[in-house]
Amino acid sequence: MSATKGKSVHVRRKSGRILLWLRKGGLVSVLLTATLVPVQAKETRDAGKPIFEENCTPCHGDDGTGKTPPGMALGAHDLTSAEVSKKPDSELAQTISQGRNKMPAFGDKLDEKQIRELLIYVRTLRKR
Ligand code: HEC
Repeated sequence: MSATKGKSVHVRRKSGRILLWLRKGGLVSVLLTATLVPVQAKETRDAGKPIFEENCTPCHGDDGTGKTPPGMALGAHDLTSAEVSKKPDSELAQTISQGRNKMPAFGDKLDEKQIRELLIYVRTLRKR
């Protein structure tokens, strides 16, 4: 009787400690590890595609070449070109988030992760 009592107290203390650890940010790191570690290039590419289709194809086109009426009117750059392909991620990410000339800024609409996913997708559009 007394042994059972002691055990349940012990278990309760232990789960209390786990809850405390979770509250201190342990849960956040577990979730982050769980979401970041298994993400592979293909999954990230797949993540970028719907974001591109929703926000970017009106000007840049499905294939990224920018041969759409608004794309041609505004002078959207051909994202599959060697010229764009050789620009560093940091510069392209900045154009997407802050905009440039007629390219609208997406920094308020898309977070950093989405912009990174978009960049990976844009890189896959490159002409071979
Ligand atoms: C309203 C039309 C429009 C939309 C929508 C648009 N763009 Fe653009 N984009 C442009 C134009 C125009 C430029 C050329 C800007 C310039 O003159 O430098 C450009 C340039 C870019 C560049 C830089 C190319 C370079 O030469 O450095 C990238 C990268 C880019 N767009 C990606 C995107 C992505 C990703 C999206 C969706 C989130 C998007 N664009 C949505 C019009 C658009």
